[in-house]
Amino acid sequence: MADVGIRNVVKRFGKNEVIHGISCDIQDGEFIVILGPSGCGKSTLLRLIAGLEEITTGEISIDGKVVNRLEPADRDIAMVFQNYALYPHMTVYKNMAYGLKIRGMAKEEIEKRVLNAAKILELTSFLQRKPHQLSGGQRQRVAMGRCIVREPKVFLFDEPLSNLDAKLRVQMRLEIRKLHEDLKITSIYVTHDQVEAMTLGDRLIVMDNGYAAQIATPLEVYERPENMFVAGFIGSPSMNFIRAKVAEDGRGVEIPHVGKGLSLDRPVSGRAGHEVVLGIRPEHFEPAPETSALMGLIVDHTENLGADTLAHGHVGEGAASLTVRLPATHPVQKNAILPVRVSAKHVHLFDKERGSRIA
Ligand SMILES: Nc1ncnc2c1ncn2[C@@H]1O[C@H](COP(=O)(O)OP(=O)(O)OP(=O)(O)O)[C@@H](O)[C@H]1O
Ligand SMILES: [Mg+2]
Repeated sequence: MADVGIRNVVKRFGKNEVIHGISCDIQDGEFIVILGPSGCGKSTLLRLIAGLEEITTGEISIDGKVVNRLEPADRDIAMVFQNYALYPHMTVYKNMAYGLKIRGMAKEEIEKRVLNAAKILELTSFLQRKPHQLSGGQRQRVAMGRCIVREPKVFLFDEPLSNLDAKLRVQMRLEIRKLHEDLKITSIYVTHDQVEAMTLGDRLIVMDNGYAAQIATPLEVYERPENMFVAGFIGSPSMNFIRAKVAEDGRGVEIPHVGKGLSLDRPVSGRAGHEVVLGIRPEHFEPAPETSALMGLIVDHTENLGADTLAHGHVGEGAASLTVRLPATHPVQKNAILPVRVSAKHVHLFDKERGSRIA
């Protein structure tokens, strides 16, 4: 077990800088998820921690010791990849034992560790099978078993579940979380799946194009996104963004497309008339009587998801389209006008130029 320090880490491939100075102090036993869209640098950051890539500038420490110059094998980490190649000709037992054997560990110790890992992963009755005789999920567990037996200080995962079907992914997600609760080994987990991130992580590093856009708990990231990138990336369907201006009294906003003001019952920073962006999640709109509605959504189309209905529509000419999530029992029709409101506590405000959150 160990803490991991990432300090001002920059990575360039030739002239191309792909990590622009990321810092994060990861606590001993913490489960950190690196989340972001394809190409934003998640795997690169993980590979820098693993020592598979060299850091351009900055520092990474494991258990208080700077590891910049240490080979991967000397960093006391274990990594599970998306393509966890098992040795096809070896049994499950041998797949798990192999790494320990080549390190010259005593046979009794190897046996003890493999049997223990097999028990944790419920693989005991499969130990004599070969990989082709296992399901995808069982193979994935063998790959994790190979890491567990090493008793590393840190686990690194790079999209380990993306080759599995949706149902198995949910099951394995729970197993990884359970495993972490049992073993309490510091874990760093890369994914582009926000549900995986929200359910697994103690904290998330949300990455945008080589930057850490926000580092916070899943709840903070959902309830208090630091910028429009995080606001739009977390949550499904995405947060609605609406152009607005700071109101005269400085305690709310005017929404030109709606021709109405929205009082927020709190001082809004920025002078009156300053352009801002309102962020409202689809689930935070609620149907309202026309007299107290903030806006009437002209419904363009609806999607029934079983428990909920999504109404997609627009307000006024040239306004961006909006999505509202309603209980499936609420009647809503194409081309009808749906009056909705939102409570002030669910309204996010962002700076139009910089995209950053406004107090
Ligand atoms: N060895 C390399 N040489 C040059 N550029 C690289 C190298 N490895 C990665 N990159 C570039 O660095 C950027 C980040 O890549 P990375 O693999 O870290 O993204 P990712 O967030 O893991 O994406 P994905 O979700 O698709 O796996 C990309 O633009 C990629 O093209
Ligand atoms: Mg990747």
